[in-house]
Amino acid sequence: MCGIVGFAMEENVTEHLIKGLEKLEYRGYDSAGIAVEKDGEISAVKTAGRISALKEKLKYENVSSHVGIAHTRWATHGEPNEKNAHPILSENKKIAVVHNGIIENADEIKKELISMGVEFETDTDTEVISQLLMINYDGSLLSAVIKTVKKLKGAFAFAAVCSDSPGEIAAARYLSPLTAVKFNSGAGIASDISALGEYSDEFIYLDDSEIAVINSDEVKIYSFSGEEKEKTPQRADADLNSDGRDGYEHFMLKEIYEQPEAVKKTIDAYYKNGEINFGFDEKFIEKLKNSDRVYFTACGSAYHAGAAAELFFEKILKIPCRAVIASEMRYSFTPLDKKTLVIAISQSGETADTLASLKNAKESGCATLSIVNVKDSYIAKTGESVIYTRAGREIAVATTKGYTTQLTALYMLGIYLAKIKNSAPDKELGEYENELFSLADMIKSTVSLSGYISRRAPFTAFEKDVFFIGRGVDFTCALEGSLKLKEITYIHSECLPAGELKHGTISLIERGTKVFAVAMNKRLADKTANGINEIKARGAYVICFTTEKLRDKFPLADEVVILEETNEFFAPAVTAPALQLWAYYSARTKGCDIDKPKNLAKSVTVE
Ligand code: F6R
Repeated sequence: MCGIVGFAMEENVTEHLIKGLEKLEYRGYDSAGIAVEKDGEISAVKTAGRISALKEKLKYENVSSHVGIAHTRWATHGEPNEKNAHPILSENKKIAVVHNGIIENADEIKKELISMGVEFETDTDTEVISQLLMINYDGSLLSAVIKTVKKLKGAFAFAAVCSDSPGEIAAARYLSPLTAVKFNSGAGIASDISALGEYSDEFIYLDDSEIAVINSDEVKIYSFSGEEKEKTPQRADADLNSDGRDGYEHFMLKEIYEQPEAVKKTIDAYYKNGEINFGFDEKFIEKLKNSDRVYFTACGSAYHAGAAAELFFEKILKIPCRAVIASEMRYSFTPLDKKTLVIAISQSGETADTLASLKNAKESGCATLSIVNVKDSYIAKTGESVIYTRAGREIAVATTKGYTTQLTALYMLGIYLAKIKNSAPDKELGEYENELFSLADMIKSTVSLSGYISRRAPFTAFEKDVFFIGRGVDFTCALEGSLKLKEITYIHSECLPAGELKHGTISLIERGTKVFAVAMNKRLADKTANGINEIKARGAYVICFTTEKLRDKFPLADEVVILEETNEFFAPAVTAPALQLWAYYSARTKGCDIDKPKNLAKSVTVE
């Protein structure tokens, strides 16, 4: 989603701002811009589209200065055009603001300001911030920010420069990340530390209701009421400078290949002295033992991981377990009480809907647990306990290793819960544990099909509509394969349980319609075969993902991709990389922007 970067330096900041924006590109955006303060004036250059277009424009503008802010915007209020691109200027053009998040009471503030005679130019909610800063400015940018944040409702991180306060940037955070850094030749601010990684490896992470004021000599942190705070810079967890593609054409391909290692690291992190151990405290373990219902709440691929876990958990915990899409769960009438365990799953740890439904669960007294990849992210901090997946940084917008490590953490959690609840025979749990140790190797074997899939996927790359089918846990994996294909190739894809096709959708199957069938489940193979036979009778072309042992069950399939055999619940982790590769090579054949598909953002911090 949107990205903020700002620098105050001894040298010209323009190049640094552009480099910072490029580091934020992976988050997804549809317009970009920069503004600098120089000689009592603000100069802003903005453009719809990519940063490359902004760079092109900057060649013809003299935008050099020691202080500036920049932004990549993912449109929420108003079209992604030049006018609505950030930085957004105040009416007197003395203040420029870049902003992430949503100001929920923007309409109310706008009406009030219009009644005071302030004229608005853009369709953004951000403009209320720049106009309020203008009204509240009395010679100190800090005091203008303090007065302004008191009026704002919603989630925000913003940074502002003012032509009457030369050399400084003031920035504020509430429910949206913001980090500051001091380095030799200046100071910086950004919504994502990757934009600051080359300047230092220690950062000041702002907490909610904090303001940073930076100039080239110092970084000062204040509370929203104006008291100065001491904050110690912290070392970043990840190596921020190792986000190169390491010779891979795209981050997505690199991340597909990283899955065996990421899964292994996730297992190793929680397997201690022959036991699964998440380090939960006694009180939380007691709550887990007493829980009589489980909800998984998540969005997109993380929801698909929850949907896969739902079946596994019901099998071994023998209590009702449901995966619910977070944007639905937050407004549902789902009964939640202290015997309910709510598990929020999120790679980024920032997804607004997942966070909201987790908060609802917490307020209802449920036991809450977050499964998150990004350390110290909102969702990580909001759950009563947290399990960190060990995917490492995921840059491609379409998640790959994020999803398989979520599955891994969920498999481990299921086994752990069944043990403390004593809800399944030791023998059965022991078998799952053994398979867990083979998971990384099985995924490696799937990834090794990359060459084969690269030759087959171009065949379906130019389809308009395709279908995915599966039964049981295979269906949840088919959902993930379908999502992956549509998000990066823009092919329309629909996914159904194999037994559901005949209740309507089969009317769309024609001669040559491509159908991807996930058929890894021994228990349901005959049933999946029925579904395949029904669509073959209508002329479909079926690409079947199955195991060597089951392949004879699907004699009518036109193509068969053979994967390693595992238990039915772990099959999505083994199958998903093949579907990811199919999507990847289809998108590559079509020349799509694989790492940054149109309209999508890496973390969806708005509702
Ligand atoms: C799909 C994808 C999205 C995310 C979803 C949730 O490839 O990446 O569907 O899975 O937006 O994101 P997180 O896991 O960050 O909460």
